[in-house]
Amino acid sequence: MHAVERKMAKIFCSLIFLCCLVLSTGARVNHRILSSSTLGLDDATPTGSNFTFVCDPARYSSLGLEASNFAFCDTSMSYEVRAMDLVNQMTLTEKVHQLGNKAYGVPRLGLAAYEWWSEALHGVSNVGPGTFFDDLIPGSTSFPTVITTAAAFNESLWKVIGQAVSTEARAMYNLGRAGLTYWSPNINVVRDPRWGRAIETPGEDPYVVGRYAVNYVRGLQDVEGSENYTDPNSRPLKVSSCCKHYAAYDVDNWKGVERYTFDARVSEQDMVETFLRPFEMCVKDGDVSSIMCSYNRVNGIPTCADPKLLNQTIRGDWDLHGYIVSDCDSLQVMVDDHKWLGDTKEDAVAQTLKAGFFDGIPQYNSFGKNDVCSKENIELATEAAREGTVLLKNENNSLPFSIDKVKTLAVVGPHSNATSAMIGNYAGIPCQIITPIDGLSKFAKVDYQMGCSDVACKNESFIFPAMEAAKKADATIIFAGIDLSVEAESLDRDDLLLPGYQTQLINQVASVANGPVVLVLMSAGGVDISFAKRNENIKSILWVGYPGEEGGNAIADVIFGKYNPGGRLPLTWHEADYVDMLPMTSMPLRPIDSLGYPGRTYKFFNGSTVYPFGYGLSYTQFTYNLTSSTRSLDIKLEKYQYCHDLGYKSDSFKPSCPSIRVDNSEYNDRIEFEVEVQNVGTKDGSEVVIVYAKPPEGIDASYIKQVIGFQRVFVPAGGSEKVKFEFNASKSLQVVDFDAYSVLPSGGHTIMIGDDIISFPVHIKFC
Ligand SMILES: *[C@@H]1O[C@H](CO)[C@@H](O)[C@H](O)[C@H]1NC(C)=O
Ligand SMILES: *[C@@H]1O[C@H](CO)[C@@H](O)[C@H](O)[C@H]1NC(C)=O
Ligand SMILES: *[C@@H]1O[C@H](CO)[C@@H](O)[C@H](O)[C@H]1NC(C)=O
Ligand SMILES: *[C@@H]1O[C@H](CO)[C@@H](O)[C@H](O)[C@H]1NC(C)=O
Ligand SMILES: *[C@@H]1O[C@H](CO)[C@@H](O)[C@H](O)[C@H]1NC(C)=O
Ligand SMILES: *[C@@H]1O[C@H](CO)[C@@H](O)[C@H](O)[C@H]1NC(C)=O
Ligand SMILES: *[C@@H]1O[C@H](CO)[C@@H](O)[C@H](O)[C@H]1NC(C)=O
Ligand SMILES: *[C@@H]1O[C@H](CO)[C@@H](O)[C@H](O)[C@H]1NC(C)=O
Ligand SMILES: *[C@@H]1O[C@H](CO)[C@@H](O)[C@H](O)[C@H]1NC(C)=O
Ligand SMILES: *[C@@H]1O[C@H](CO)[C@@H](O)[C@H](O)[C@H]1NC(C)=O
Repeated sequence: MHAVERKMAKIFCSLIFLCCLVLSTGARVNHRILSSSTLGLDDATPTGSNFTFVCDPARYSSLGLEASNFAFCDTSMSYEVRAMDLVNQMTLTEKVHQLGNKAYGVPRLGLAAYEWWSEALHGVSNVGPGTFFDDLIPGSTSFPTVITTAAAFNESLWKVIGQAVSTEARAMYNLGRAGLTYWSPNINVVRDPRWGRAIETPGEDPYVVGRYAVNYVRGLQDVEGSENYTDPNSRPLKVSSCCKHYAAYDVDNWKGVERYTFDARVSEQDMVETFLRPFEMCVKDGDVSSIMCSYNRVNGIPTCADPKLLNQTIRGDWDLHGYIVSDCDSLQVMVDDHKWLGDTKEDAVAQTLKAGFFDGIPQYNSFGKNDVCSKENIELATEAAREGTVLLKNENNSLPFSIDKVKTLAVVGPHSNATSAMIGNYAGIPCQIITPIDGLSKFAKVDYQMGCSDVACKNESFIFPAMEAAKKADATIIFAGIDLSVEAESLDRDDLLLPGYQTQLINQVASVANGPVVLVLMSAGGVDISFAKRNENIKSILWVGYPGEEGGNAIADVIFGKYNPGGRLPLTWHEADYVDMLPMTSMPLRPIDSLGYPGRTYKFFNGSTVYPFGYGLSYTQFTYNLTSSTRSLDIKLEKYQYCHDLGYKSDSFKPSCPSIRVDNSEYNDRIEFEVEVQNVGTKDGSEVVIVYAKPPEGIDASYIKQVIGFQRVFVPAGGSEKVKFEFNASKSLQVVDFDAYSVLPSGGHTIMIGDDIISFPVHIKFC
């Protein structure tokens, strides 16, 4: 990096962190209130002292200062004046000292330091220096990793977890052990099955990822009762959340290509349709307070220096009520023009001051030690792991086991005693860890043989004792899979296979086992386990992702039928040779027939898979009955609304008015239907109803189908539950054309419920 660029990066950072400094003073960033002050901390490293808010007169007098001497603490003045005052009082040196994650504060003005990098991907994490654990708070609830929670396809679960995490964060903040600014969640779409950070994400579908973001962010940020604040710019925040990494960021380190230098060549169409969609939802529907730009370049331009991506799109088109942050300690961040922020220092501060500056939110002040690792939160972590469990195979209803028949269990394989593997990355110190052995031991007598010395499984000699155990036990459970040594930040996968001798272990144990064999897989990305799917000796397969601190309890509950699994795969499980067909660095989602390029994600790849996106079984059976549906929609165009051309395949019929643009128009375009979900089996269970839309036949290079909605419903055995769906056609049935216009095509769309269990047409006409 050139010295000049570095200097510019620093100027940029000082602006950002001035902003963050003010955020930390208990106001909002760029209009938002964080109700109380991190500036109560006396040092950049949290000291463990209890918080006070910045303009607390008692705090000022303890510093030998008088709050009333500082105009920026004078609530009778306007925010603009207070902002100006704060900025004007700081010297250049003092401003420079707000560089980096660590803002040193300005003691002379009573502004204490703030370490503002904290993480809360699936629980309060000590990855960022803003958070730490010690004797007072030894741990926080470690919920399942995001890929597991995503598999629950339960929006309220995602939100409730966000609420639990922010409650723990607030409690730790009150005790001086955590910040108020969290660089979570990670909402990049999993474009390639090799990506090492799939574990952190909600999977491969932009809509599902976006809905996860909206719910998790609202869970973290929303202060109860103020969701519908009239001025969104002054809406208070429980903690500040950050959707990252913007954008097209999904190569970590693959064959020497690193995220810091990777230049993603992305078409405008893919950008709008896939890579930006979750961020758009995060900002517009989640009202997130921060977006982090990514390390990589997109089409040659570093994302953190792209005025179109940042200012025009996030601020202009989406109306972010917050701020944009980059990883300022990184020299890789290149900024060639700081003006793109469109903010002067005073503006930035003024925006942060525009709401009740320094006013606390009293309902959080009492949060303390008892709110961290509470019984309720640990139960929620268990519930999330149960809900995220996906049943992939269950021949002849081999599962669930009955405690009367299965009294002894052979538990074998490298994840049988998983601890940190279940917690994944961006974790904290868990309250406790229930390993699979711990969980299963509550139901049966466990004979544990590791089968492999570790996940790499390089030593065959452990297989034999595992076989011996399987020969004797009433049933056998094999815990296999991968972990952070295979898929992680800065580590993409080379292949989709189980490492080392794991396949041999599984086949050999299954071939001699006395009782039924269950394979339990831990992984984030898909694993090609076609061999196990085919193997008749393996009756059942469960995927649990990385299920968090209560993983062992959740797995045991599912295996012994205390919980009926209903999760669905949030990404396609590809066959191993898929990755030979395309380098990880090729960004296009659509297939390119002339190059034998197969396309990416279920929306564009039509080849065979090990298990498709959305797959998952239950111990019971469900049927659907469509009870009402919109079948046609005539949309009246106003004089200023025009038909928009749309590419059709040459041999296809193209309507005279092929589409209309949907970006800036509102139409009366509601479609709705109701489906009755009947549980026709003998066990209570949860069903995830996934709704897909298919565009009219003949549109050139469109997606095969796409998720437009989903709901998880509980239906007791023999019962039924009506599920209602409502959509705006222009939003849910849109396609993004080659020029990246979002349009609603006319003609016959198809709505599919589940994997084509029910489908019906919706005919759209413009008049
Ligand atoms: C901080 O709060 C905790 C729990 O509310 C309390 O036990 C402790 O005495 C407080 N410490 C200080 C320094 O006020
Ligand atoms: C969805 O999650 C919520 C919140 O945890 C839970 O109460 C509800 O039972 C879940 N729904 C289903 C159908 O599992
Ligand atoms: C906010 O608006 C939504 C949608 O109109 C509504 O369901 C919710 O109850 C409102 N919340 C509050 C706190 O008023
Ligand atoms: C940023 O966008 C706003 C409108 O959203 C515009 O007024 C401003 O000029 C833009 N700034 C830059 C540097 O592009
Ligand atoms: C499981 O792992 C833990 C921690 O690594 C270890 O203390 C314990 O002994 C192991 N349990 C068994 C049954 O090997
Ligand atoms: C495999 O494990 C056995 C049993 O622990 C050990 O004796 C042997 O040396 C190991 N072999 C290798 C190649 O590491
Ligand atoms: C399932 O049960 C049927 C009937 O008992 C049996 O013929 C079949 O082999 C079983 N299949 C498997 C995979 O166990
Ligand atoms: C899959 O798509 C390719 C073009 O991308 C097409 O040639 C092929 O016929 C399609 N296969 C199926 C089964 O639809
Ligand atoms: C499906 O719903 C319709 C309308 O409510 C009803 O007439 C029909 O009997 C239902 N079919 C089944 C199989 O339940
Ligand atoms: C449909 O659009 C209208 C108008 O923009 C909006 O009020 C409504 O919430 C939308 N409905 C859905 C289901 O998105």
